[in-house]
Parts: sequence; C-alpha cells; structure tokens
Amino acid sequence: CIPKFVKIVEVGPRDGLQNEKNIVPTAVKIELIHRLASTGLSVIEATSFVSPKWVPQLADAKDVMQAVHNLGSIRMPVLTPNLKGFEAAIAAGAREVAVFASASESFSKSNINCSIEESLSRYQAVIRAAKQLSIPVRGYVSCVVGCPVEGLIHPSKVAYVAKELYDMGCFEISLGDTIGVGTPGSVVPMLLAVMAVVPIEKLAVHFHDTYGQSLPNILVSLQMGISIVDSSVAGLGGCPYAKGASGNVATEDVVYMLNGVGVKTNVDLGKLLLAGDFISSHLGRPSTSKTAIALNRV
Ligand code: HMG
Ligand code: MG
Repeated sequence: CIPKFVKIVEVGPRDGLQNEKNIVPTAVKIELIHRLASTGLSVIEATSFVSPKWVPQLADAKDVMQAVHNLGSIRMPVLTPNLKGFEAAIAAGAREVAVFASASESFSKSNINCSIEESLSRYQAVIRAAKQLSIPVRGYVSCVVGCPVEGLIHPSKVAYVAKELYDMGCFEISLGDTIGVGTPGSVVPMLLAVMAVVPIEKLAVHFHDTYGQSLPNILVSLQMGISIVDSSVAGLGGCPYAKGASGNVATEDVVYMLNGVGVKTNVDLGKLLLAGDFISSHLGRPSTSKTAIALNRV
C-alpha cells in the first residue's frame, strides 16, 4: 500500500546547482525555475541565503529570489542557515524558508561551521523570527544514514535532530542521505526511528544517488507511508561539503516510477524533460536521469 499522491519538492535550482564549479548565469537559473514552474511542480527550492564565501555559486540568491518569488501559487523555499540569511531572504521576497541541521557532528562542523546543538539554537532564532511573519520553515536533517567522516549514523541520532526541529515548529522534516550511501537495509530502520517521534505525514525523503539506491529507497519509504520526495531535475546536485557525493535522484526518474505505479504527482514528464534538457545543455554535459537518456534515444 503506497500513497495515492506524492508531493515532489524540486531542489534542482538549489541543491542541484550549489556544487557547480562554473558560475551559472543568474538569467539561466531564473529560466530554469520558470521552466520547472511550467511542469506542475508545486514546490521549487530556489536558492540559498548562505555565505557567498562558502557557496559562491549561490551568491546571486537575492537576484534570483527577486525574479521568481511571484510565480503564481508555487512555493519557493530558500535555505537560511541563520538570522542574517533569513532577513536577506525575506527582504528579497521569500515566503518560505528551510533550515538545515545534521545528524552527524563532523558534518555539521564542516557544512555550517558549528556543532549540532549550536545549529539548533540558531534555528530556534530563525523559527521564532519566521513565526512572527507567518513564514513556514522546513527542516532538513543531513547524513541520516551515513556521514563522510563518521561513517554509519545511528537512527537515534537522526530521530533526535528531527524531533528537535519538529518541536521547534518546522512544518516538514526532510531526511537527507547527503552522500547517497543508504540502501533499504539502512533506510528502513532510520525511518522507523524517526516515525516514532515525528508524524509520518510531516516527513520527506531526500536521496542523493551516489550508489544508485535512490529509487529503491524511495519505494520503501512510500511503502512505509512517506508521501513527500525531494529530487533534482536532470539528477543535478551534490553538497560542496560532502566530498564524493553525487547528485540528487533525478526528478524525471521519480516521476517515471510514480507514473508507473499509479501514484499522482501532477508533474508533466514531457515538460520536465525539457527543463532537464535546458539545464544540461547549459552545463554542457548529459543529464544523469536514466529516463531522460532513454527517452532522448527513442
Ligand atoms: P561562518 O564563517 O561560521 O559564519 O559560516 P560567521 O557568522 O562567522 O560569519 C562569517 C562571514 O559570513 C561574515 O562575513 C558574515 O557576515 C557572513 P564577513 O564579516 O567575513 O565579510 N555570513 C553570511 N553572509 C551571507 N549570508 C549568510 C551569512 N551568514 C554569515 N546567511 C555559515 C557559517 C552557516 C554562514 C556558513 O557555514 C555557510 O554559509 N554554510 C552553508 C553551507 C551550505 O550551504 N551547504 C550546502 C547546503 S546543505 C545540503 O546541501 C544538504 C541538504 O541538501 C540535505 C542533504 O542532502 O542531506 C540540505
Ligand atoms: Mg542534498
């Protein structure tokens, strides 16, 4: 038994592009978001208001946000690591934000330069400020099954951080396999631990596809009752602070699978493929979406 409808959270413009070495022109980012918006996606993570020294690719967050924040009813969350980022995001027109913590102490340090506890207290401040403006805040937990430094991460650590973020007021918790090492063997016990402390309908899964395990991981997640899936057009992506990690699962492949099992997404695969072609041709390399490769061949 799997959900009848899955909400896809498209993270391509943010997670997908953040790791690109060559700076993608702002106009291309804006065009990508417009094309994604035409596919029926209801949520598109647009950019991050992080330090441009840490993520130079997204230094144009303000310009991107100002250009897209009014795209109809589509939600356009942006990453905000602290109050400074939150204030900049709001000034640029953001109406939804996301905070990002880690289940691994080492990754927290390398990604956001502070401990897990310090990050949670920063996020408390962000969430308090957001509440005053009625801005919804999504919460990410990274390294939910493995960490590039610490190796395996115990499900109890993930459950702890997920519950903290949920109790603080995050409306949704996205569980990230940042380095893409999970299999159903590690994902299921992790989800069981988190589901025991956060309602299942508030949970999203976020798989990077390093070992090609994303689709089986998504399928078992759906079987456990998850109905929110993060993915990236053309399989773009990777975290600059997670060496060796590859892109997110491709949105095209998620939609193809969900169409196949009769789960509605409201996303038009044909239009999605065009958005994927657009960004792949701009980046000058083929899409890693198996669906895009297969359909471009026939
Ligand atoms: P820090 O160096 O400890 O920050 O960085 P600081 O407070 O000491 O400030 C240092 C400088 O940064 C100052 O500027 C601040 O003004 C500036 P200076 O005085 O040196 O000129 N600064 C900022 N500038 C713009 N926007 C801001 C901001 N904050 C401070 N918001 C910080 C700490 C968190 C800022 C930094 O580590 C950072 O930006 N990290 C972001 C890393 C990142 O974006 N990683 C990728 C996203 S997470 C991910 O991909 C995983 C996910 O996809 C899920 C999964 O896959 O698991 C979500
Ligand atoms: Mg990610």
